[in-house]
Amino acid sequence: MCHNLLKTLNQRVIPCYINKVMSSRQSSDFSKFRVALKSAKEIVILSGAGISAESGIPTFRGAGGLWRKYQASALATPGAFRESPSLVWEFYHYRREVAAKAKPNAGHFAIAKFEDNHGSQKKITVITQNVDGLHARAGTKRLIELHGNLYKTRCTKCKEVLVNNDSPICEALANRGAPDSNMVGSDIPVKLLPHCKKAHCGALLRPHIVWFGESLEHDILEAAEHAMSTCDACLVVGTSSVVYPAAMFAPQAASRGAIVAEFNIEPTPATPDFHFYFEGPCGTTLPQALAD
Ligand SMILES: NC(=O)c1ccc[n+]([C@@H]2O[C@H](COP(=O)([O-])OP(=O)(O)OC[C@H]3O[C@@H](n4cnc5c(N)ncnc54)[C@H](O)[C@@H]3O)[C@@H](O)[C@H]2O)c1
Ligand SMILES: [Zn+2]
Repeated sequence: MCHNLLKTLNQRVIPCYINKVMSSRQSSDFSKFRVALKSAKEIVILSGAGISAESGIPTFRGAGGLWRKYQASALATPGAFRESPSLVWEFYHYRREVAAKAKPNAGHFAIAKFEDNHGSQKKITVITQNVDGLHARAGTKRLIELHGNLYKTRCTKCKEVLVNNDSPICEALANRGAPDSNMVGSDIPVKLLPHCKKAHCGALLRPHIVWFGESLEHDILEAAEHAMSTCDACLVVGTSSVVYPAAMFAPQAASRGAIVAEFNIEPTPATPDFHFYFEGPCGTTLPQALAD
């Protein structure tokens, strides 16, 4: 799939006859899935916010999707940052602090252990939409972070990307970012927000996150597309399958014959496309599915 098409697609492209064929054969049998996984040589695990829900990190769509009175998707935009860098930095400061206190859960660990045990015979790639860093903290090594990382900054001028684990990221954000709905606005002067430390630059930093309305980094998208196009099995974990381009990855893999299994607490628009569907919290279902 070419990059431009991916960027502009906003409709699902899976022929409906595939949906019908798949749903009639769909299985929730863990032992059948483990057998299928044994013969797979290239496996992709595609994760979304749901895998971190059991670590206490709210998803965007469920309860907890609001920060103050704002939909997270309204703040995670370049327009919101232009209008109020202070408000957006408070939001990201809050998310950094929540994720820093969170711990990877049984789902993250099951994936990392699977790679440890089988990574020398199989190519196992985790592609995540999450920005919380929990896959890496659980020990996952071959990891593609599609949407960036809360603990990276990017300079708005010189574009330098740096890892930053400071807590708080700057003095002015200490004790800020409270999520309560009665808080409105934000008044931190721009000069007190995080700035580039490079000599001759000093511009405002932003979170190194792909915001709504922005394109994914070319190399990262290419790596993800490559892994998706060659895998013979794919696990789709805790994603609502509505955010593109990740939403089309697994249905496309299924349509070219890869075995695809979905792990979610409820069906998604893509569920009928998949061979396996495991309903329930993935901290419980993934360890069963990935057991030896
Ligand atoms: N942890 C994070 O880094 C984080 C958190 C919120 C949002 N986001 C971003 O928001 C965007 C939203 O897309 P998305 O599809 O990742 O998330 P989403 O919020 O749209 O969907 C979450 C999905 O997870 C499922 N889910 C919830 N709890 C689960 C559990 N315990 N086990 C299995 N499934 C569970 C929900 O039913 C839902 O389908 C992504 O681009 C992502 O970058 C990231
Ligand atoms: Zn700079």
